[in-house]
Amino acid sequence: MNEKRIYVNTFGCQQNEADSETLTGIAQTRGFIPTEKIEEADLILFNTCAVREHAELKALSTTGQLKHLKEKNKALKIGLCGCMVQQEHRKEDIKNKYPYVDFVFGTNQLSRFGEILDQALAAKKRLFFVEDYAVNPGTICEGLPVKRKYAHRAYVSVMYGCNNFCTYCIVPYVRGRERSREPQCIYNEVKGLVENGCREITLLGQNVNSYGKDLETPFPFSELLEMLDGIEGDFVLKFMTSHPKDASFELIDTIAKCKHVEHHFHLPMQAGSDSILKAMNRRYTAERYFELVDYMKKKIPDIAITTDIIVGFPGETEEDFEKTLDALRHCRFDGVFSFIYSPRKGTPAAEMDCRVPDEVTRSRMSRLLELQMQIQTENNEKLVGKTLRALCEGESKNDPDYLSARSDSGKLIHFPKPEKEIQTGEIVTLRVTEARAIMLIGEIAV
Ligand code: SAH
Ligand code: SF4
Ligand code: F3S
Repeated sequence: MNEKRIYVNTFGCQQNEADSETLTGIAQTRGFIPTEKIEEADLILFNTCAVREHAELKALSTTGQLKHLKEKNKALKIGLCGCMVQQEHRKEDIKNKYPYVDFVFGTNQLSRFGEILDQALAAKKRLFFVEDYAVNPGTICEGLPVKRKYAHRAYVSVMYGCNNFCTYCIVPYVRGRERSREPQCIYNEVKGLVENGCREITLLGQNVNSYGKDLETPFPFSELLEMLDGIEGDFVLKFMTSHPKDASFELIDTIAKCKHVEHHFHLPMQAGSDSILKAMNRRYTAERYFELVDYMKKKIPDIAITTDIIVGFPGETEEDFEKTLDALRHCRFDGVFSFIYSPRKGTPAAEMDCRVPDEVTRSRMSRLLELQMQIQTENNEKLVGKTLRALCEGESKNDPDYLSARSDSGKLIHFPKPEKEIQTGEIVTLRVTEARAIMLIGEIAV
């Protein structure tokens, strides 16, 4: 049989993962079958990210490795899409330095992928479909085919784009302005997933707290959560990401009363110093951030709170950085994703003076990690002896005698395989027996 195969490599965030599932779904309608083996692919698609330089370098070097595959198989088609190639200068780089890439398309062309693929398969020349968001603001297209990677967990985009223009961030330039999906469409999708046995649904948006503000009939995110929480079935509802300037006490109240919404809140703080927050255009103060965290802990005592921090933003002084450490001590996060500041072409921060020297940034980063590991271990130790509901994610990556599960508050728990077989996607109750900084050890609680 002469089946055609597509290999998709996704860089970047969950939004890109979700987009790749749609791209794969569309390719299937053109007769392509997904494969995990790049050597057997007839079509290779790289969905790229631009959030930090490292993400771009990774996408570019992996693209470089495709040259030899193309030399071996002249019929192979190679496509690049996603945030990195949405930037004009990167599109030009691909045009000039990667001649074996056959076609490129931007993030606002996703719904047109079927057409683009037809053209690319037929074309004798290279094709570039990249339009600036000022020219093509991107629309929401419902009902596109989706080939989901997992049966037990799924991403559901509730909105696209971002309006915030944090001064360091490329996302608003490569994803356009906020566009929300109609609540009824989201409801139908989530209901369908739950009916098909999906146990974990993550709602996606760059700033879910401003969901629905752009709709003809505005619809707040807390109402969307409540509406989805009303769906019958055994499932956990997650969401990301929240922006502290828009996260409301009302949203926290809603989470407290919902039965399906996980007790985990990812609330990127970025920095603990008000002057750095201002230079980042985050539009909240550390005090306002603490109020949100304190309220969450009061209303939902078992909540796990995680955050993102940028170290070495231009002009960050030792005093500023100390304020970030103080904030970690105040908030006692259950997880911190920390990033070294990476200048992004075209963003205001890339033009700012007072770059922090690399060695200073690196030393700040290790101080931050050391403090955070200590806090996380202390937080986790408090869970020893407690029972937690968790979703089994399959065999542990480190030990075949163990299974891994994710608690309703997002904690990773490893537990010995019990005699009775447990399926991936099954919900289990675990008793915590041991605590580490980044995970827990547990056992089945009967
Ligand atoms: N929309 C989300 C996050 C999107 S990007 C939000 O606003 O929280 C994910 C994280 O990458 C950000 O929270 C930030 O911490 C980090 N990030 C974004 N741009 C960056 C840059 N130029 N350098 C370093 N980290 C960056
Ligand atoms: Fe980037 Fe800020 Fe938008 Fe998040 S809110 S995607 S950090 S501009
Ligand atoms: Fe990267 Fe684009 Fe996501 S820049 S982090 S893939 S929105």
